[in-house]
Amino acid sequence: MRTSAALAALWAGAVTAMPARPRSCEVVDAPSPDPLPSSFKWVSTGPLVGPKNDDRNIAGIKDPSVVKINGTYHVFASTAKSEGYNMVYFNFTDLYSAGSSPFYYLDQAPLGYGYRAAPQVFYFEPHKLWYLVYQNGNAAYSTNPDISDPSRWTAPEVFYPNGMPQIIADNIGDGYWVDMWVVCDEEADPNKSLCHLFSSDDNGHLYRSQTTRARFPRGMSEPVMALRDDNNKYALWEAACIYRNKGATGSEKYVLIVEAFTVDGHRYFRSWTSSSIDGEWTPLADTEANPFAGESNVVFEQGVSRWTRSISHGEVVRSETDQTMTVDFSEPLEFMYQGVDPNVQTDYNALPWRLALLKEVRE
Ligand SMILES: *[C@@H]1O[C@H](CO)[C@@H](O)[C@H](O)[C@H]1NC(C)=O
Ligand SMILES: *[C@@H]1O[C@H](CO)[C@@H](O)[C@H](O)[C@H]1NC(C)=O
Ligand SMILES: *[C@@H]1O[C@H](CO)[C@@H](O)[C@H](O)[C@H]1NC(C)=O
Repeated sequence: MRTSAALAALWAGAVTAMPARPRSCEVVDAPSPDPLPSSFKWVSTGPLVGPKNDDRNIAGIKDPSVVKINGTYHVFASTAKSEGYNMVYFNFTDLYSAGSSPFYYLDQAPLGYGYRAAPQVFYFEPHKLWYLVYQNGNAAYSTNPDISDPSRWTAPEVFYPNGMPQIIADNIGDGYWVDMWVVCDEEADPNKSLCHLFSSDDNGHLYRSQTTRARFPRGMSEPVMALRDDNNKYALWEAACIYRNKGATGSEKYVLIVEAFTVDGHRYFRSWTSSSIDGEWTPLADTEANPFAGESNVVFEQGVSRWTRSISHGEVVRSETDQTMTVDFSEPLEFMYQGVDPNVQTDYNALPWRLALLKEVRE
């Protein structure tokens, strides 16, 4: 493991100038009690986890959802190939040996065969159950009392029993309904507390439904648009994550990240903040020049080539695992993502995506 000083030195050596933080919507930056950086810098590993050389013939490992418990990383990810998607679970303690950890393909569990992708894992405290939320044509979930026993993930159930909600059908155009994300507030009363379900349509819209924590996972409302980009769907594409910023009470209490395309067609993450999960989202680091994570603020570990130009579908590594999706932004983050050799030209589902880790650098 590298020290943060060593990471900072690596970063300083590799990058000459950081872009200034564009924040045109504000005249003055008011002092904030919230421990949130206004710009981010990362050092990336090389590819850590890719498909096994087995009879599955998987092309890419994608869309990681990660919790770290007692030093063990538990990872759920999509398995992609031209024939379709499913998911895999693996765990490891040593990052640089992650590639040799055994895969448990989740189609072996009651969760089953067929289209399932883009998992989000969290522990729903009121039920004392782990939830895996994913897309299967609807917004689906499975549950499991033991994250270490992947054979126990239940058969899929859906959040929207009547199928794709009307507002999504009306706005999706030729996009896809993808990347579901659940986050609940901290209100003590389970009948007042709300759990929200976000999803994207690859057409410039981020949707949000809600139900009470008492009724979760049932009772999801008709979605509303939480964020939209009517000019450029590529700027608000998919892979949204919403985190509670631990300890923050003000306008930066929640952090939203969404994946977008760079002008030359690679992937990066933009970020916003809000005082509430259903509130207005204010830009934080949301440009290609000052992204949450993208080519312009990522350097690679010593000896690692610039193997990917995309910082694509990923998640902050969470050590708090409950439904509030809490992350301590006052400490340097780890972000697991998918990258891909930019020279490979093939069908999108056959791209050789690999998982890697960004380690945040703080001065
Ligand atoms: C972490 O390890 C400690 C000591 O072995 C144990 O008591 C605790 O239950 C573990 N926590 C989790 C979340 O597994
Ligand atoms: C890691 O995953 C395997 C299944 O591949 C499981 O048997 C094992 O218990 C898991 N280890 C931990 C620490 O959760
Ligand atoms: C929540 O509402 C249900 C149904 O109305 C009720 O039975 C329950 O007592 C309420 N719980 C609390 C903590 O108020």
